[in-house]
Amino acid sequence: MRIVMVGSGYVGLVSGACFADFGHEVVCVDKAEEKITALNKGVMPIYEPGLDLLVGNNKAAGRLSFTTDLGPAVEAADVVFIAVGTPSRRGDGHADVSYVYAAAAEIAQSIKGFTVVVTKSTVPVGTGDEVERIIRETNPDADFAVVSNPEFLREGAAIDDFKRPDRIVIGLSDDRARAVMTEVYRPLYLNQSPLVFTGRRTSELIKYAANAFLAMKITFINEIADLCERVGADVQDVSRGIGLDGRIGAKFLHAGPGYGGSCFPKDTLALVKTAQDHDSPVRLIETTIAINDNRKRAMGRRVIAALGGDVRGKKIALLGLTFKPNTDDMRDSPAIAIAQTLQDSGAIVSGFDPEGMENARQLINIEFASGPYQAAEGASAVVLVTEWNQFRALDLSRLKSSMAAPVFVDLRNVYRAPEVEAHGFTYHGVGKAD
Ligand code: UGA
Repeated sequence: MRIVMVGSGYVGLVSGACFADFGHEVVCVDKAEEKITALNKGVMPIYEPGLDLLVGNNKAAGRLSFTTDLGPAVEAADVVFIAVGTPSRRGDGHADVSYVYAAAAEIAQSIKGFTVVVTKSTVPVGTGDEVERIIRETNPDADFAVVSNPEFLREGAAIDDFKRPDRIVIGLSDDRARAVMTEVYRPLYLNQSPLVFTGRRTSELIKYAANAFLAMKITFINEIADLCERVGADVQDVSRGIGLDGRIGAKFLHAGPGYGGSCFPKDTLALVKTAQDHDSPVRLIETTIAINDNRKRAMGRRVIAALGGDVRGKKIALLGLTFKPNTDDMRDSPAIAIAQTLQDSGAIVSGFDPEGMENARQLINIEFASGPYQAAEGASAVVLVTEWNQFRALDLSRLKSSMAAPVFVDLRNVYRAPEVEAHGFTYHGVGKAD
């Protein structure tokens, strides 16, 4: 199949490289010339484990190429994926689909022969209908079908998620498009990944419902964690105790500082807005958003409490700044609210992140250290915010030796209290009675 990816950001690039790896001929298009020039030189615009190798190999094999010139690529394509951003619209929280519509209009002008146009971007229900209208209006002679095919990739594990998906959701009503999409995903289908064919609107909603459910699950366990602290229970045991029930499932039950990233915050908000517009409010999700927003600053207050309530003039070290490990993404990271809360109370905040320092510099004004031990020098507390592997086996004696006071706040429950306390620290986990 000849595939075009319009938008070479996170989703477009990972999906394009993986499709090429399946043996398809893929052209990734982006308007940003610097990005395309860099990609042609093998420089990745994002940090994602394994992506540089996957891109390099498929480029070398002649199956993957990058261009700013959409027209000729679309003319030759069987399938055109739209994988541009749908950020929160300033002011109202609706998803901003203007880039999707602009891409649709541009694609329309170059369609030749039967072409399947697929929205991979996360788009509100009904966007596919509008994409279809735009293409028909721009090019009345075009022979095409519009399909919805949402992505379920986690940053940091995106290639694996693409190649070993729990399911592939495809929303369409056209039989020719169904045959094309089956061919596109044939290698995964042969691997027994279920293809869920459904209507286009249903497919669009599945994406939002999935992210909203996961955000709600995390928020549920975070509230249970707070309760555990009050009643002397252990949230990790509660997670295991309920997660082994197949109806509940063990995943996404790790209590922590609240969810962040480019997807859950944006998608939960967009779902709430769509639901309100249709007079069918999703109150569980409205509440999820409110609880999660409060939680991030509450984590800052928790650190202050661990230091006896007064942090003025004290240094506090944050280990991990990104919203989760194996990414350089800082969007809506709990570290931002935590750093601000501590600074508002007069603390001096230092921090280190293996990949996120550059992005963090744009968002928070803290002392950036060259490593975890450097961040902890002179600190009255160390706060483990993001569970990067390199923070899982810290030399606790070394860490403590340069600190002003031995307080360890573990917002990801990476450590066990006794092992940290054995080194003379006071330990504070999440959802565990101190
Ligand atoms: C999420 C979904 O998991 C993907 O399926 C989806 O495709 C993607 O959004 C998207 O819409 O593009 P992602 O945002 O990369 O992926 O990251 P997750 O691994 O889902 O983590 C999101 C947040 O939840 C992180 O801040 C993480 O620390 C937090 N989390 C996750 C918890 O606090 N506890 C958990 O048990 C799991």
